[in-house]
Amino acid sequence: MFYVFSNPQAIAEHVSELLIAQIQKKNDSVLGLATGSTMEPVYEKLCEQVARLNVDVSGLTTFNLDEYIGLGSDHPQSYRYYMRQHLFNRLAFAQHRTFLPDGLCADPVKQCEQYSGQIQQAGHIDVQLLGIGNNGHIGFNEPGTSFGSRTHVVPLTEQTRIDNSRFFDSLDEVPTKAITLGLQDIMESKQIILIATGTNKAQIMAELYESPVTEQLPASVVKSHPNAMILLDEQAAQFLPAEWRDTLES
Ligand code: F6R
Repeated sequence: MFYVFSNPQAIAEHVSELLIAQIQKKNDSVLGLATGSTMEPVYEKLCEQVARLNVDVSGLTTFNLDEYIGLGSDHPQSYRYYMRQHLFNRLAFAQHRTFLPDGLCADPVKQCEQYSGQIQQAGHIDVQLLGIGNNGHIGFNEPGTSFGSRTHVVPLTEQTRIDNSRFFDSLDEVPTKAITLGLQDIMESKQIILIATGTNKAQIMAELYESPVTEQLPASVVKSHPNAMILLDEQAAQFLPAEWRDTLES
């Protein structure tokens, strides 16, 4: 389940190949997408390979994990903006089937119910991409979130706001709430690929490796999924026991 690669580019290449194989097998696949720095090389490589191999992405439906409450789609730190910049505007996606929660929605709670419902109507997510926060969050499911959770509004922890403040001019500008897919929605995906890169993820990856499946470490739920992979680069894997490392990269 834990696979170590030499660097983020090697992970990006592998994940991009997996996604393309999925799209070629099922051109109307439903993809679950994440934002953040971990995903940038993945989307870069996917754009490159889709263009090179002339892969048709127009039949795909995508659901993103989360969005900040209070940021509109034109705000450069909104996740819709990120997705347009890194993926949606670069390939021929059917834009009306690229779903993210709307950060300016008047009734976020109702929107949450609809979002989980839309995923179920789409037949569930075929492949879900996940990053991981330094506190073990996936999406914005912070420690203590119920494994039975559906899409919901979350107050962001101080730690997550500080981690994400690098993208904003100041900590004050980081929103205090977000909408996130719930852990149960994530776990209903047919396949999960969790990626962690860089030394700042080394501590949490060692904890994840050792941890039982517990709501105190939200990402640990992935270890109980029947079809999940956890991909790390050497830096993120530095505190994992060497004898347990399983290397996919040739
Ligand atoms: C983003 C998301 C978050 C990030 C996590 C890691 O859509 O759901 O859980 O995946 O915070 O972020 P980076 O990749 O920036 O370290």
